Amino acid sequence: MPFPLPRWIAHRGGGSLAPENTLAGIRVAARLGFKAVEFDVMLSGDGTPVLIHDETLERTTNGAGRVCDTPDSVLFSLDAGHGGRIPRFAEAAALCREHGLLANVEIKPAAGHELATAAVVSRLTADLWRGAVVQPLLSSFSLEALEVARDLAPEICRGVLFEAPPPDWRAEVHRLRAISLHCDANLLRDEVLAEARAHDIPVLCYTVNAPEQAEMLFARGVSALFTDRLDLFLQIHCPPRPAKAGFSFRITGFESSASEAFRP
Ligand code: G3P
Ligand code: MG
Repeated sequence: MPFPLPRWIAHRGGGSLAPENTLAGIRVAARLGFKAVEFDVMLSGDGTPVLIHDETLERTTNGAGRVCDTPDSVLFSLDAGHGGRIPRFAEAAALCREHGLLANVEIKPAAGHELATAAVVSRLTADLWRGAVVQPLLSSFSLEALEVARDLAPEICRGVLFEAPPPDWRAEVHRLRAISLHCDANLLRDEVLAEARAHDIPVLCYTVNAPEQAEMLFARGVSALFTDRLDLFLQIHCPPRPAKAGFSFRITGFESSASEAFRP
C-alpha cells in the first residue's frame, strides 16, 4: 500500500521541544501536526531495543556507562529527561501507529553489535507494524545492519544513511534494495542530488533547523528534511503533498516512484 513521504520529519522524536528519543517527544510532534518522526534504536544490555542516540548514557540520562552493558532493570529506572524514562521500541511503535505517524526507525547499533541490533530491530519492526496503514522506514549508517534488514524484513522499506554519500552510493542503494538516500544536508553535492533525481530516488536530509536552508534544499530538489525545530516547521505551514501528486513508497516491491508534481 503506498503512502506519502511527508516533507518534514521530527528529528529524534520531538526535536528540541522535548527530551530527545522519548515518548513525550513523539507526542509533541504528533500534537504539532508532524506526520513523520525519526528516532534511534539501540539494544540494551539485555538485548531489548530502546530509543537512544548515544552509545553511552551520560548525555541524555542521569545514568552512566554503555547502553549495551546496562541491564533493563537499571536502564528503565533512569531519567531520560523531564522525569520520563527511556522508551522501549515497542512503545514508540505503538504511539506512532496510534497517531498515524510515519516512523523512520534508525537502527543505531553500538559498535560491534551491528548484526544483532539489525536482526532484532528489523524483525520487530515487521511485527510491530504488521497491517498498519502507515508503514515505517528503516535506515542506518551501518550498511551491514541494512543488509540484515533487507534479508530478515524485506517488506519494510529501507533508506541508506550517509554523512556524505560516497561515489558508489547508488550501488549501495541498489544492493540493499533501498528506496531512499538520507544524508547530512551540508554534505549533499549537486551531482549526487542530480543522480538521485534522475533515478527517482528521494533524498532526505538531516538536520535542518534554519528556514533559509530548508527553502534552498527544497528548491534544489530534496524530498524531505529532518528538523529539531518543530516550532518553526509546523505541518500546518508545510502540509505534505497529496498522495496522488507526491512521492509514494510501494510496500510490496523494492521500487520507488516520484511523480513530477512532487518535485519543487
Ligand atoms: O537519520 C537521520 C539522523 O538522525 C542521523 O543523525 O546522529 O541524529 O542519528 P543522528
Ligand atoms: Mg538518528
